[in-house]
Amino acid sequence: MKTITIPTGKPYEVRIGRGLIREAGAQTREACPGAETAFLITDDRVAALYAGTVEEALRGAGLRTETFVFPHGERHKTVATWEEALERMCAARLTRSDALVALGGGVTGDLGGFAAACYQRGIPYVQIPTTLLAMVDSSVGGKTAVDLTGGKNQAGAFYQPARVICDPDTLETLPEEEYRCGCAEIIKYGMIGDAEFFRSIGETGIREQAERVIAACVKMKRDYVARDEYDRGERMKLNFGHTFGHACEACSGFSILHGEGVAIGMAVMARAAAARGLLAPEDRDALIRMIRRYGLPTEAAWPREEMLAACGNDKKTAGSDIRIVVPEGIGRCRIERIRTEELGDWLEKGGVQ
Ligand code: NAD
Ligand code: GLY
Repeated sequence: MKTITIPTGKPYEVRIGRGLIREAGAQTREACPGAETAFLITDDRVAALYAGTVEEALRGAGLRTETFVFPHGERHKTVATWEEALERMCAARLTRSDALVALGGGVTGDLGGFAAACYQRGIPYVQIPTTLLAMVDSSVGGKTAVDLTGGKNQAGAFYQPARVICDPDTLETLPEEEYRCGCAEIIKYGMIGDAEFFRSIGETGIREQAERVIAACVKMKRDYVARDEYDRGERMKLNFGHTFGHACEACSGFSILHGEGVAIGMAVMARAAAARGLLAPEDRDALIRMIRRYGLPTEAAWPREEMLAACGNDKKTAGSDIRIVVPEGIGRCRIERIRTEELGDWLEKGGVQ
């Protein structure tokens, strides 16, 4: 088992190891020592696969369990699901010392984390990520949120978990297209900050070295979060590809997946940066080849005007400015503040008609 400490205001550990979900009870007890009840939140697909194992582990450690299952998918990362979870927590008479356990992908982690942040002004929670994307990114760093009609992640809080339990064995049941979405975020880490890591996932497939890759990404995320817990500077680099990625998700009515949107967003940014002379064409091509190597899309299928309208609610907007992450080479990027009117030009140079 690997242990990585995230040194936020309230530090916590990410534990990575095969078979670890069977220890979810002992881990939750250790991380949330006052808990008598564990409120398990999970979506229907993950519930069918892993809720029984986790409930058994929690009960085995002497915790009472209450399980809340919601329908899977981004469409259910809503205020309505969050409210239902809170009502269920209240009905279960959860106290401030009890724990919430979020078992699933980024949707469950974001939603569960936000419910934990708000219930009685905050109760401890444990993340058990079961998608590659959640293992390498969303379960670490304390960004919790739900979507509003007007945009993704528009209501949320920074609220760090008490522990993250990452069991790579759970990836065995993950559908291929969801696995690919995790690969998009992994490529992102290499592109923004680690050329050697980028090369390593070109030479050996991510699946063949999943545990090493997960640990490497968690360490990179640890470093960004340690330098900028509240996303005011350096951490924004993790949003590389996300401004246009979120726009793609919204334009598709969330029929494309988050990681697919990020993949397109990275490719658009790389093409635009190269057209502006900020990124060497061979680095642009290396990124696009890497995205395609992992079966991910690189072209936006929506008109520029639609994409621009969907960018309107981006959280990286400040007044009439927006911060974008510009790639400058493999393993190098910078944050640039531009006028929102300039986004159209970036899209055009990025190949969006
Ligand atoms: P997800 O939670 O919807 O999971 C994807 C699908 O896989 C779901 O249908 C789920 O039921 C299924 N699934 C999960 N684990 C499984 C397993 N082991 N076996 C079989 N099926 C499984 O989506 P995701 O891609 O994990 O996360 C995307 C979300 O994460 C988005 O809402 C995004 O905004 C958010 N996100 C948050 C952060 C953050 O820092 N908080 C970072 C990146 C992404
Ligand atoms: N996934 C972006 C962040 O955690 O900052």
